[in-house]
This record gives sequence, C-alpha cells and structure tokens, in this order.
Amino acid sequence: MKRLQRLRATVALRDMVSEIGFGQSQLIQPLFLSEGAIQEEPLSGLPGSSRHTLSSLLTQFEKDLAAGVRQFILFPVPAQKSNRTFRADFVGTALGQMRQRAGNDAAIWVDTCICSFTETGHCCVHDSRGGQDLAATHAALESLAVSYVKAGAVGIAPSDMNDGRVAHLRAALDKAGHDIAPIMSYSTKFASNYYGPFRDAADSTPQFGDRRSYQLDVRNRNDALASSRRCAEEGADLLMVKPGQPAADLIRPIHEQTGLPVGAYQVSGEYTSLVLLAREKFLDFEAGLLESWYNLRRAGASYIITYGARLASGMGLPR
Ligand code: PBG
Ligand code: ZN
Repeated sequence: MKRLQRLRATVALRDMVSEIGFGQSQLIQPLFLSEGAIQEEPLSGLPGSSRHTLSSLLTQFEKDLAAGVRQFILFPVPAQKSNRTFRADFVGTALGQMRQRAGNDAAIWVDTCICSFTETGHCCVHDSRGGQDLAATHAALESLAVSYVKAGAVGIAPSDMNDGRVAHLRAALDKAGHDIAPIMSYSTKFASNYYGPFRDAADSTPQFGDRRSYQLDVRNRNDALASSRRCAEEGADLLMVKPGQPAADLIRPIHEQTGLPVGAYQVSGEYTSLVLLAREKFLDFEAGLLESWYNLRRAGASYIITYGARLASGMGLPR
C-alpha cells in the first residue's frame, strides 16, 4: 500500500513540509555524535558545530530546542571501524535520551550511511576482490536503519547513493513494523568538492579512490533527475538535492517529475564559504546566510539542511 500519511504524523513533520510560508521549522540542524570522543570537539571548518560526546550532544540539543529548532539530523561517528560488522548501539542510546527530552516536539532524522563505519571510508561494503558488494551494503544499511527507527528516530536519511537502497530500506522498515516511518532520501547527490569540512567531522574520508563510482557526475543533468525519480519509485517520501545551491537548478524539475517535497542540503563547503567571507569582512554573515536560504526556497526547496538552523530565530526568521 502506498502510504501518504507518513509526513502527517506529528506537528514537526507537518510544519516541515508546509507549502505556505517559510520558517525555522523548515530548517534541519545537523548534529555529530562521536562514540569515541572524550569531550566536545569544536569543528574548525564548521564554527558553531562540534563532534559531540553523548553528554555534550544532549546539552546542545536542549539549547537548540530552546532556540526553536524542531528538525535535527544526527550523524553517528562510531569509535571502531570495520569492514563487515557495524554496531550502532551508541546511536540508540542518544536517540532514546533525546526523545525523552523532546517527545514528539522535535523530529530527529538519522543520516543512514556506512562511510563513518567502514575502514575504507567508503559508503559501501567491498568484496574480497575490491568490488562493491551491493547485497552486503544493503544488509548493513537495513540493520542500521531499523535500529535507528526502533530507538526513536522519526525517519531515516540514506545518503549513500548505492543502487536499490531505498527499496531495501522501505521493505526492511515495513517488515520491522515501521511502515509509518518516512525515508528522506539523498536522492540527487553529486560527487562534489564541497564536502571537505564535513568529512573531517564525520571521519569519513575515503582511504582510496573517491566516490565518483556511486555519486553523481556534476556534468550530468539526466542522471541527476533519473536518480531522484528512481528514489521516488522505490518509495522515498522526501527527496533532496546536494550540494544545495550548486544543484538548485534541479529542485523544481525533480518536484515536477515526482510530486514529492524536495529539500536542499546546504553542505559544509557552502556554509564554510560564507563563514570565511564574513571572517574577511566581505559579507555580513547572517544576512548572507538568510539570502542563501531564500535562494534555495525560491528555487523550490521544501526543507533545508543547514548548519545554521539554530541561528534562524535570532536572525528574525519566524518559527
Ligand atoms: C556521507 C555524507 C556526506 C555528507 C553527508 N553525508 C559526505 C560524502 O558523501 O562524502 C556531506 C555533508 C556536508 O558536506 O555537509 N554519506
Ligand atoms: Zn557515506
């Protein structure tokens, strides 16, 4: 059965996909949770963001709630890397405690990928001959996704770009009794040079090669559109372009071809470029940030993932 109710389940979800107005409820705040961190580690490339311990994450989460943030995306960084077994109990613990503090007032998504878990730093499992092991990759993503939703994530956000993952994740969630949990798919994700500051944060730099055999080639519009259409066909509830502003030309076409809400990920390199311009006094940071969100909204973005979500109400954006 095609479920259209998934994005109606809570106020936070309904506000996020409201087609009228623009406010903080349409902004998603990334949070990095590091299982191995002993203390909070501020990220030099992303001022205002840190790699968190469980306790500093909860402190930040409460501050963000007080500042009006209602959407979060959690990026788990495990202490141990492996090539086969990926354990994420630490994510479940954090989700449980976040839900205890916020109930349904906040929607907590979890970025679902394995590049922070694999020794290779790649978003897929490799077989013994160095090729992509799609079946093992799907299985790994499925078990992570089900554990996240079981622990209290509102939904999952697969960012890996492996063929077929949305269909597999949808089936796995349904089978586990979570047919109401939405999938926010990183559906048009380019192999971009703008992810640098993030990879430090997530400790997910590929140890060999690059991601061009699974992420999209920036020269190809047709493949970019097909990739989002395919995610829609496989059952994604929300689509996304990434990086945001560089891929803004695709937002409206994707929406027109699928009818689904399409978000934009203002990625680390985009955000940091504003920070650096402001540091050199070439830009008023908050004015520039607000403009960048307006640009994405004008291009048709329904929601925006941005490292500056927590600043929005202080900048005068309505909640
Ligand atoms: C991992 C992932 C990446 C980002 C989000 N999830 C990095 C990558 O694909 O290399 C990038 C986010 C950012 O740069 O802000 N699958
Ligand atoms: Zn990845």
